[in-house]
Amino acid sequence: MATVLIVYGSTTGNTEFLAQGIAAILMNKYGHTVTVKDVAGTSVEDLGHGYDLTMLGSSTWGDDGIEFQEDFAPFYEDLHRADLKNKSVAIFGCGDSSYEHFCGAVDLLEEMMAQLGARVMGVPLRIDGDPAGAQADIQQWVDDIAQSL
Ligand SMILES: Cc1cc2nc3c(=O)[nH]c(=O)nc-3n(C[C@H](O)[C@H](O)[C@H](O)COP(=O)(O)O)c2cc1C
Repeated sequence: MATVLIVYGSTTGNTEFLAQGIAAILMNKYGHTVTVKDVAGTSVEDLGHGYDLTMLGSSTWGDDGIEFQEDFAPFYEDLHRADLKNKSVAIFGCGDSSYEHFCGAVDLLEEMMAQLGARVMGVPLRIDGDPAGAQADIQQWVDDIAQSL
């Protein structure tokens, strides 16, 4: 059994719904112990200690460039200080493929994790539109990660 921390940022509730769905699969299907935190109440010092896997999720905003979800933005600014070297990390987020930078926040998180030397598990999950309509993709993504934990 593994311990998992999920930190998410969400404005309209989509990434929160996704985070809770991921947590439910990890707990109910795999028996892992999962802590879900809103990024608004989380500091980067909370990462990397006491968890086998850290999952980070943000939606993407902005019209011209890539903007993180508003609560996630200050957290991302501090993320370079996170002690995630050699730690297992998974990344997810909601977006809309009609925008130029589809799930751009997920791309930036992936780059940051590479800079920190974290071990990113699998291909980051990018949900286009309402995550309630992507249950099969979510299930497959969690299965792939859970089986390599
Ligand atoms: C003003 C605005 C800008 C957005 N910009 C992007 C974007 O650049 N890339 C993207 O993939 N999605 C973009 N989106 C879509 C949101 O990321 C999407 O609605 C997401 O599901 C919101 O998730 P949340 O409720 O967890 O915050 C934008 C939405 C709005 C309203």
